[in-house]
Amino acid sequence: HSVAILGAPFSKGQKRRGVEHGPKAIRDAGLVERLSNLERGGREGGVRFTVCRKDNVSEELTQATESCKSDVDLNVAFHRSDTGRCYFGSFLWRVRNEPDYPVHDFGDLTFKHLEKDEHFMHVPFPRTVGRANKLLSGAVSGAVGAGHTCIMLGGDHSLAIGSVEGHAQQCPDLCLIWVDAHADINTPLTSPSGNLHGQSVAFLLKDLQNKMPEVPGFSWMKPFLSARDLVYIGLRDVDPGEHIILKTLGIQYFSMRDIDRMGIQRVMEVTLDHLLARKQRPIHLSFDIDAFDPSLAPATGTPVNGGLTYREGIYVTEEIHNTGLLSVMDVVEVNPTLGATPEAVEATTSLAVDVIASALGQTREGAHVAFPKIP
Ligand code: ARG
Ligand code: MN
Ligand code: MN
Ligand code: MN
Repeated sequence: HSVAILGAPFSKGQKRRGVEHGPKAIRDAGLVERLSNLERGGREGGVRFTVCRKDNVSEELTQATESCKSDVDLNVAFHRSDTGRCYFGSFLWRVRNEPDYPVHDFGDLTFKHLEKDEHFMHVPFPRTVGRANKLLSGAVSGAVGAGHTCIMLGGDHSLAIGSVEGHAQQCPDLCLIWVDAHADINTPLTSPSGNLHGQSVAFLLKDLQNKMPEVPGFSWMKPFLSARDLVYIGLRDVDPGEHIILKTLGIQYFSMRDIDRMGIQRVMEVTLDHLLARKQRPIHLSFDIDAFDPSLAPATGTPVNGGLTYREGIYVTEEIHNTGLLSVMDVVEVNPTLGATPEAVEATTSLAVDVIASALGQTREGAHVAFPKIP
């Protein structure tokens, strides 16, 4: 598997300058070098099963074990029920550490500035945002179609509209994990600010179709995502209209309070269960850097106190890597012009590099390729 890096220097989904410099700032923090030198840790997982009224289970398990390639370890444990009619057991698998892989930096997209772009209701730059997302959608679709795991560097979070849409063209059954202080699920009618970076999810959801007006610039796309294919992590600044939507649609979310209560381990377990238990499918991870606490990621446009710790954020991306299903990741809202000091900016950009490397398999426990002897 190769990695494609796609820069999207775009800021018209909100009103502050500077977030268009995010891609350059994240690259300057050493992204490509880090990913190129990555020795990815192995992935592991398992399933528990119960099989009833079968006599040939052990035969099937033997076959499963033998059909596994040498880069997979499979441990099978099972026992017969007292009646002898059922088997209980588990498959535990581990894909061995993977060597590094090619990293293709496709550079930055070029977004046109539209001269005439009147407000729609109180939404600024609708056509500019719509057109940028159409362009991005094609680029993401192309990268995924070419077999890359795609890393999209924003830019503001309105870019998730095109990124997820382009991903869905290749992978219609994708699921979406949205890591953010904000739900970004306002419609133009509920949005207090009008900013489209606070409305991205509303453009994606089929369930909100009859609540969305026709926003100029977006006629190229139709909503395609179901509310049950989405999980939020890190919420702590949700507008009233957004809260109604979350509750009405029954969207699975984990606010910072939920993380405090359950712990990040349990949050990830329930998240991945919710999205993947019925079937394994590609994951789109949309990571707003403001999900992190502002002490860690100060250079961002809408910081909110009480965010993810470094360890919680990295645990999220480690667990997503462990599924082996990460297909596209957005890293958005890094605004290098908003840090109070150069150190504050550097902290934010190097954090962005850390979460990307972790999502692509950098481990905290260390890793080595294959199974050599200790030198
Ligand atoms: N909820 C607010 C709004 O709709 C803030 C959104 C912030 N979004 C973001 N991607 N940083 O305007
Ligand atoms: Mn946010
Ligand atoms: Mn966001
Ligand atoms: Mn070290």
